[in-house]
Amino acid sequence: SLKIVVIGGGSSYTPEIIEGIIRRHDSLPVTDIVLVDIENGKDKLQVVGELSKRMILKSGKPINLTWTLDRKQALIGADFVSTQIRVGGLEARAKDERIPLNHGFIGQETNGAGGIFKAFRTIPVMMEMAEDIHHICPEAWMINFTNPAGIITETLLKHSAHDKVIGVCNIPFNMRHSTAEILDVSPEEVEIEFIGINHFVFGKKVTVNGLDYTEEVLNKLKQGLDYSPANIVNLGWSSTFIDATKLLPNPYHQYYFQTKEVLAKDIKAFNENGTRAENVQELEKSLFELYQNPNLNDKPKELEKRGGAFYSDVACSLMNSIYNNKKDVQTVNTFNNGAIPDLPYDAVIETNCIISKNGAKPISVGPLPSVIKGVVYQMKAFEELVIKAGLSGNYNDAYNAMIMNPLVSDEKGSKILLDELLKAHKDYLPQF
Ligand code: G6P
Ligand code: MN
Repeated sequence: SLKIVVIGGGSSYTPEIIEGIIRRHDSLPVTDIVLVDIENGKDKLQVVGELSKRMILKSGKPINLTWTLDRKQALIGADFVSTQIRVGGLEARAKDERIPLNHGFIGQETNGAGGIFKAFRTIPVMMEMAEDIHHICPEAWMINFTNPAGIITETLLKHSAHDKVIGVCNIPFNMRHSTAEILDVSPEEVEIEFIGINHFVFGKKVTVNGLDYTEEVLNKLKQGLDYSPANIVNLGWSSTFIDATKLLPNPYHQYYFQTKEVLAKDIKAFNENGTRAENVQELEKSLFELYQNPNLNDKPKELEKRGGAFYSDVACSLMNSIYNNKKDVQTVNTFNNGAIPDLPYDAVIETNCIISKNGAKPISVGPLPSVIKGVVYQMKAFEELVIKAGLSGNYNDAYNAMIMNPLVSDEKGSKILLDELLKAHKDYLPQF
């Protein structure tokens, strides 16, 4: 048997992973899928569960799918556990986005003050989850999508008993696929050497069938090549930025290197249409209306309006390569282990790895290019502060994380944001 447990199974994203599993069933012969959610998500879980069942029925694959609120029971015998939760739901996300914006700071789910609080809410829950997995299904691989994915993965790898944890994100996947599209080749032919950390990763070198195409892709970037998922504005990059850094930035880098412009755009969008969380709430409403239609038995196209579209390809390829001991290359979040010699061995980085039955083994990338050395050090050190505070619940630790984030970096502003966010999220911050 081969059992996959999806924690946060009531998510509107779940049809993605179901489709990915169905599509790979010949090489990844999943026998059981259990969707797990919490009391609050009961109704969504049922709708998603029924749609998933219809998808499986249509495919004719012999997969037994069930859903439950009993996480511990569900974990028994699991081979893979995929985690895709949002503690406090979209309501909490709206606060992460709105409160910083109200004070003139970037308000974003995984970056700046909002990202810090998303981590604070999520760390205790994910620590408990990893402990459960470690006791109930110690051999299971935990595939973590839960954001901030890099920080959560580092927390679990360093501080929980479970060490079979791999973090994933669709950004490197998107970058590779858009590059393939622009060069008119298949994604399998494209390799991007990634360097950095989750939502702060750069592309250093692009090869197509072994030939260096970096120059070509950098030129496309100057012409406006757009890697942005649905949730991030695309402002483009100036020729000067590209010529000087000679790196492929990811869409999230706009928050750091075009802060004023993004802030202006986000404030305008917020005043006109509300936060991204509120837009996603609307989107979810119409998705769930579709999902309830008993004649729907496919993943609907509309799901592509979500920023995380195609994440399932990342998850399913990863499970496939672990299960089949494929030893192919995929970009995931795992311990550095010397791949970037100037970062700590136990820093979690987003990097190309060989994926086998033993998990993810990073491929050496070499030192950080000097232009990004300082900022990557700072971001990694900042993440360490977030993890420390997220575990300790100590006010000063939390302040240190806030002040050292490049998108906050303001003595008084840090305290204002910290106090207001602590209050707004107090129900989800048992450690504080
Ligand atoms: C990107 C990120 C994900 C994030 C998603 C948000 O794809 O890589 O980590 O969760 O966007 O999308 P949403 O539709 O929820 O705004
Ligand atoms: Mn991501």
